[in-house]
Order: sequence, then structure tokens, then C-alpha cells
Amino acid sequence: MDKIRIRGGRALSGEIAISGAKNAALPLMAAGLLTDDRLILTNVPRLHDIKTMRLLLSQHGITVEPVDAEGRMLSLGGTISNTRAPYDIVKEMRASILVLGPLMARAGEAQVSLPGGCDIGSRPIDLHLKGLEQMGAKFRLEGGYVHGQAPQGLKGATIVLPFASVGATENIILAATLAKGTTVLANAAQEPEITDLCDCLVAMGARIAGIGGGTVTIEGVATLHGATHAIVADRIETGTYACAAAITGGEVFLRHARLDHLGAVVRALTEIGVEVSPGEGGVRVRRLAGLRGVDIITEPYPGFPTDMQAQFMAVLSVADGASMVTETIFENRFQHVAELRRLGARINVHGTSAIVRGVGQLSGAQVLATDLRAGFCLILAGLAARGDTVIDGLHHLDRGYEALEQKLAACGADIERLSR
Ligand code: UD1
Repeated sequence: MDKIRIRGGRALSGEIAISGAKNAALPLMAAGLLTDDRLILTNVPRLHDIKTMRLLLSQHGITVEPVDAEGRMLSLGGTISNTRAPYDIVKEMRASILVLGPLMARAGEAQVSLPGGCDIGSRPIDLHLKGLEQMGAKFRLEGGYVHGQAPQGLKGATIVLPFASVGATENIILAATLAKGTTVLANAAQEPEITDLCDCLVAMGARIAGIGGGTVTIEGVATLHGATHAIVADRIETGTYACAAAITGGEVFLRHARLDHLGAVVRALTEIGVEVSPGEGGVRVRRLAGLRGVDIITEPYPGFPTDMQAQFMAVLSVADGASMVTETIFENRFQHVAELRRLGARINVHGTSAIVRGVGQLSGAQVLATDLRAGFCLILAGLAARGDTVIDGLHHLDRGYEALEQKLAACGADIERLSR
């Protein structure tokens, strides 16, 4: 398996083009199940998860062409010929569960392998199922699969999510577009990727009000048609490269980045001594002087994203003073701590909080990426560390960061992929 080697100590300087958001692309691809027509997505990132979703959609009878050189992807639409989402694909990518809502809405049935736990927590799907049950679906669990039936079709309902789950919000919205009547979804998640999904669904003929807010109202329509939609810039990739500028004491211009999607991350960066300012067609990030510690707590959007927690902790590990990082979204999302310690970081975990005491200098070591964001946390630490850092477990990183070595190397990082 491939590894990445980084020789740390270089301040990053230059421009990085931010890709389309993985977490927007996946539900948008699932929306292709809702129509007979062609759905064209542009600004699609070239990532392993995108290939996995293509494979899954092809099992359902929907052909999706590979991403072309311009980042365009064509979903041909058509009739759903198979409603089974098999274990072998779902176990590779939990976001496979996003086909459940569209399959139930379009075909009136689905058999989706129950996603297991993952490295960051148990991640149940009860909120997805309860929401769809309120719309008339019946589910039973058999042989590791969730078997769903809605012989009379789905009906609009008033659904209050007990927690603003991103995936449950997306599944319910996707299903409600073709349900009979009106669905009111309260305490909906408000992540920008959900707004992006709704914008595309509206372009496909869906009737959705309250987009981007905590209460979304969807009036079901009989059919959806094709559309062309440009995927929103990845706010997590943006925040990650902002952290790269911060930890190396550099300055980068993040082309296509959306400052309006980064509020909580920008506030935290500003507090630790990093300047983030709008530029033409992107965002400029510059470390002003030494870094200072800050306390952060992860929350649903617009709070500080859990998907930025690991990367920000890497930066805090070299900031002056103590910082407290509290994780409220996932129960087991501190696996990067043990690896950061191998590079010399001083971090103690107490339940859902980690106390980070900044050290002057990290030193390179061999480490293992345990999940996608933990993997980039180690890259960031490696960029700042003295000597060589070798990161194993690259399959996690390839799921979610497009061309990361090229993007970092173009800004002066000494980084290479070692293939075995
Ligand atoms: C999405 C993102 C992921 C991000 C997460 C939180 C995608 C493809 N993935 O994941 O990168 O880290 O949002 O911002 O967009 N929960 C339940 N029952 C449910 C659903 C969720 O208890 O039915 C719990 C989960 O276990 C977790 C929390 O709610 O502890 C957040 O999950 P959710 O918002 O659903 O995240 P995902 O959609 O899985």
C-alpha cells in the first residue's frame, strides 16, 4: 500500500484550487436515481468515494459516466432495475445509505446493507428510518439488510429530527421530492452541502422552501427532470489548507473557496493569530506571527465542523499555551491523538475533550492515518515537524482529498507518495 513521506519545516506559499465538495457530490449523485433524464454535475472531485458511488448507482441500473477532464460527470438516469445496495459497496462507504430515500421514493422498495460502525463511532441510521417511516415506509432488518417497502408510495409528513443529522436530512429531502403531498422537516441540518443538494433538486423540478434553514418544506411532485449543476467548493478542504498555511507559518490563496461557509473555522483561525481575508475568486490565508491556543467545540453547522477537528488539533499542538478541543458529534473521534503524540505533541484526552499543550517543535515519525480527516491532521503535523514523517493508511486520504500531494507540492511542500 502507498505511503506519503513529508520532509517538514517549509512554509507554504502559493495558490491551491479548492475542489468541489465530496459531501455535496455524493448526495447529488444519489439524486440521479430520482429521474429518467440526464443529470450533469460539474466541479466533481476525482476521489475514490465518487467511484464507489458510481459503482453503487450502476447496480441500481443508473449509468453514471466517469468524471471527464473538465470535472463533468453525466448521470444518464432511467428506470431503477435493482433496489439492492449490497454489503460489499456499503461497507466501503457509509454514504451509500443516501440511496435509501431515492429508492423508496422512486421504486417503493429498497434493500440496503446496514452500515456497520466505523473508526469514528457507531453511526446508526435510526433517524433516516424513522423519518421515512413517518412518510409511510415499513422497514425490517434481515440478514444484515434493511428491507424497506412502501407499496402505496411515500406520503408527505411532518418530521421533527431529534438531532440535526446531515445524512438523515438529505435522505428525507430526497425522498420527499417525489412523495405525495407536503413534507415539513424540522430541526433539519443546515450544512452548505444540503443547500447545494436542494438547489440542484429545485433545478430538477422539485418544490422546496426554506432551503438552508432549520425547517425545510418539500411539496412532492410526480416526476423530476434533468438539470446541470455545479458542485459547491469544499469547505472542509478549504479549512484544511488554511490550517496548512497556519501550521507552516505560510501564506496561501485558496481559489474558489467560499468564505461564507467557513464562519466558525475563520473565527478560530483569527483567534489563534491567522489572517483570513476575501480575495478575487477565493480566500487568502496568512499566519501573522506566533500561534496562540484556543478552545473549540464541534457542533452542527454553522458551528465548528467535526470534519475540521483533527486538522485544527494539529495546528493547536504547536500553538502557545493550552487549548481544549471538545468533540460533540462523534463518540470516538480522537484516534489521531495517539499518532500526534508520536510526533511529540502533548495531548491528553478526558472523555469528549482533549487538552492540547502546545510544544515548540514537532519531530517527524512514522504514523498511521486512521480515518480521512485524521490522515490530513498527520500531514499537517508532518509539514511542521523537523525531519521526515511517513504516513501509512493512504486509502483513507484518497477517499476525500483530490490531488493532495500535487496541491501541497505546488506551494513548496517537500512531499512524495511512496508506492510499494
Ligand atoms: C456527514 C458527513 C461527515 C460529517 C458528518 C457530521 C457526508 C457524506 N458525511 O456524515 O463527513 O462528519 O456529516 O458533520 O456528508 N446519528 C444517529 N442516527 C442517525 C444518523 C446520525 O445517531 O440516524 C448520529 C451519528 O452517529 C453521529 C451524528 O448523529 O454521531 C452525526 O451524524 P450525521 O450528521 O448523520 O453525519 P453523516 O451524515 O453520517
